[in-house]
Amino acid sequence: MSKLTAAITAVGAYVPEFVMTNKMLEDLVDTNDEWITSRTGIKERRVLKKEEGEGTSFMCIKAAEELLKKRNIDPKEIDLVIVGTVTPDTLVASTAAFVASEIGATNAFGYDLLAACSSFLFGMSTAASFVQSGKYKKVLLIGADKMSSIVDYTDRTTCIIFGDGAGAALFEPNTEGLGLQDEYLRTDGSGREFLSMDAGGSIMPATEETVKNRKHYIYQDGRSVFKFAVSNMADAAAQIMERNNLTDKGVAWLVPHQANKRIIDAMAKRINIDHEKVMMNIQKYGNTTSATLPLLLNDYESQLKKGDNLVFAAFGGGFTWGSIYLKWAYN
Ligand code: UT7
Repeated sequence: MSKLTAAITAVGAYVPEFVMTNKMLEDLVDTNDEWITSRTGIKERRVLKKEEGEGTSFMCIKAAEELLKKRNIDPKEIDLVIVGTVTPDTLVASTAAFVASEIGATNAFGYDLLAACSSFLFGMSTAASFVQSGKYKKVLLIGADKMSSIVDYTDRTTCIIFGDGAGAALFEPNTEGLGLQDEYLRTDGSGREFLSMDAGGSIMPATEETVKNRKHYIYQDGRSVFKFAVSNMADAAAQIMERNNLTDKGVAWLVPHQANKRIIDAMAKRINIDHEKVMMNIQKYGNTTSATLPLLLNDYESQLKKGDNLVFAAFGGGFTWGSIYLKWAYN
């Protein structure tokens, strides 16, 4: 019997309707379109407004429903729903549980996975493991974040970067050797001070004081994170390519986390991947944290061919980072 692999067999995505342009941010903080564009590559991002829908689950459900409709899948066939997110609807009750119920995945169990901007990448490893082991046949992995709920719109160093969105991918067994091939995943907890949200957790529960001191917003030491992001993402992707004998010519697409166009460009240069093979949509969505990778897959789906070699790479708070080599499974 041929070895079972775990392939992505469908994707779906959702971004909110409201478009927040760089120009709009000029009215909120001391910044300008030229600075944001040249330093990050971002032109606009989406923001989920209350009138459209509430919470990260709203976007997860939309992305999942699109995927199910595209592939004509009965939600009752789904075995497991994993939601990668740093902005769950609420703490304690898992967002995935609500999403699974709402989409009609009544035979599934679900839970959230938190690894900052690497949530989807780490989730790919989890989803694929369940499928490869033969334990489950349909695992729905969603990466979604409502970053606008934790962004301080008076802080110009963070509010220009982040946006809201959701993307979903279905993992199923494959006997042609397609799907996830190899992974290199790492964490380094000593980096947690560089990209964090101080309050609201067990170290610093919410008080009047934490609210007053704006501790419930995301903070990052941009310059340090930038440095670690370039070297760690590039090193991880290089490792993955080397140990799988993948040359730049053999890679069809680099699928990098969308944090900053300069990080992506520097990384692609270090591993010698031509910019035409680099997936990029940061200009229209900004950094959507857990959603960047599946949003890329959805945007580029029509250009992907069966057998294409994809190299994913991500870096995020924690620190968390890594790279995954996956063979695309459908046209
Ligand atoms: O997704 C998870 C991981 N996150 C990342 O990977 C993000 C990594 N970091 C970055 O993308 C970049 O560091 C930023 C986009 C956050 C900042 O870009 P930078 O080129 O590293 O800028 P900087 O922090 O070195 O600041 C340069 C200057 C400073 O002014 P002075 O001190 O040189 O006078 C900042 O105060 O730019 C200033 N500045 C701004 N100016 C206009 C910072 N933010 C802004 C702004 N508009 N929004």
